[in-house]
Amino acid sequence: MTATLGAVEVGTTPLVREHFPAARRWAYLNHAGICPLPQPSVDAMHRRATEVSLDGEFTYAAHSAEIERVRSSAARLMGVPSTDIAFVKNTTTGLGMIANGLAWSPGDRVVVPDLEFPSTLYPWLALADRGVVVDRVQPEGPGGKLTVEAFIDRIQAGPPPKLVVTSWVQFGRGWRVGLAELGRVCQEVGALLCADVIQGLGVIPAELAGWGVDFAMADGHKWLLGPEGSGALYVRGSRLELLRPLEPGWNSVAHREEWDNLALVFDDTARRLEGGMPNVTGIAALGASIDLLHEAGVPAIWSHVDRLCDRACAGLTSIGATVLSDRSPEGRSGIIAVHIDGPPIPLLARQLQAEGIAVSARAGGLRVSPHGYNNEQDIDRLVDTVAMLTRTGNR
Ligand SMILES: Cc1ncc(COP(=O)(O)O)c(C=O)c1O
Repeated sequence: MTATLGAVEVGTTPLVREHFPAARRWAYLNHAGICPLPQPSVDAMHRRATEVSLDGEFTYAAHSAEIERVRSSAARLMGVPSTDIAFVKNTTTGLGMIANGLAWSPGDRVVVPDLEFPSTLYPWLALADRGVVVDRVQPEGPGGKLTVEAFIDRIQAGPPPKLVVTSWVQFGRGWRVGLAELGRVCQEVGALLCADVIQGLGVIPAELAGWGVDFAMADGHKWLLGPEGSGALYVRGSRLELLRPLEPGWNSVAHREEWDNLALVFDDTARRLEGGMPNVTGIAALGASIDLLHEAGVPAIWSHVDRLCDRACAGLTSIGATVLSDRSPEGRSGIIAVHIDGPPIPLLARQLQAEGIAVSARAGGLRVSPHGYNNEQDIDRLVDTVAMLTRTGNR
C-alpha cells in the first residue's frame, strides 16, 4: 500500500537535477540546514584552487573581475544595486556588522521577533551594556505565525525604535514576514529595517531595495546552494555612512592597491566593509551556484518548491501528521514543519536519514525544505518512509 498521492509523475525540475550529486543518493530535503553543493560550484572551486596552485598572485586580476561579477549577480538576486553589496564570512558576521557598526545611545530600542534563530537575536542582546533595549515581538497562536500587526503593536509600545530586525523566513517553522509591508511601517516611524534573508534568498523572489529594507544578509550554504563561509551583506547606499567599518583595511579605501597612500578615505560603496582579502575561492563557487539560480529563474524555482511543499503537506497529513507551518499565501515559504505521532521527532529525523532522506528536527517539528532540483518522487519517498516508521508497531 502506498501512502502517497497517486502515481509518481516524472516531472521536470527548474534546476537541473544532474548538477546535484547528492540527489543520486538522497531525497535531500534539508536546504534550510546545509545544502549539498552542485557540481558546477565544486568545479569552480577546483578551478580557482588549481589556478592559484599554478600561478599564485598572478591569478589575482582575473579573480578580482570574477568577484565583481558575482557581486552583481548576488545583487540581482536581492533586487539591490551591486554597489550596496559587501562579501562577508556568513550571516552572523553581517548581523554583527550592523549591530556593532551603528551608533547607539542608551534607551535606543530594537524590535525583534521572539523564536528567532540565535544569531538573529544575540547581536542585539549583546548591546545591553550600551543601554540598548530589545523588545521581542510575540508570534501569534501555537503555530508561531508572525504578522505585521504584531510588529506594529511592539513598535507602538514605546518610543519609535531605532531598528527593526527580523528573519525574512523563520528557520524552524518557516513563517515568512511581509517585508514590503514592514518596510512601509518602518519608514513611517523612522526606524531602520534589517532582514536576515538566509532562509529565503535563492528560493523566493526578492526586491529588498523596493521593499524598503536597509540591511540584509545571507550566507551561501542554504538556499543559495553555495559553500559555507561565503555570504553577502546588503547595506542601502544611503545608510552606508551610518555604519562604522569594523575592520578597515586595504580593501576598504577608495584608492586600494596604492600601497604607499595611507590616507583613510573609505570607498563610497559597501566594499569599504570588506577590509581584507575576500574568500575568493568561496565567492567563485557561490557565483557558480547563483548562476544556476538565475538560469532556472527564481520565480520558477519558487512555484516548483511551493508545489512540492503542498504535496508534502497533503501526503503527510494523509498519514496523520499535523502541519505546524503557516501555509497562507502570504506566510508560506520553502520550509514546512509537521508533527506526527510515533518516534520522538529527533529520532524520526535520524531514522529518515538512515533511509536516505535528509530532513531535520526543529522547533518541535519535522522540518522539510525542498529546492528546485527536488522532484515529486523525493516527496513521495519521504511520505512513504514516514508512514512506515510511524506505524503503530514501530512506536
Ligand atoms: C535565520 C537564520 N539566520 C542565521 C543563521 C546562521 O547563519 P550563518 O551560519 O551564516 O551565520 C541561520 C542558520 O540556520 C538561520 O536559519
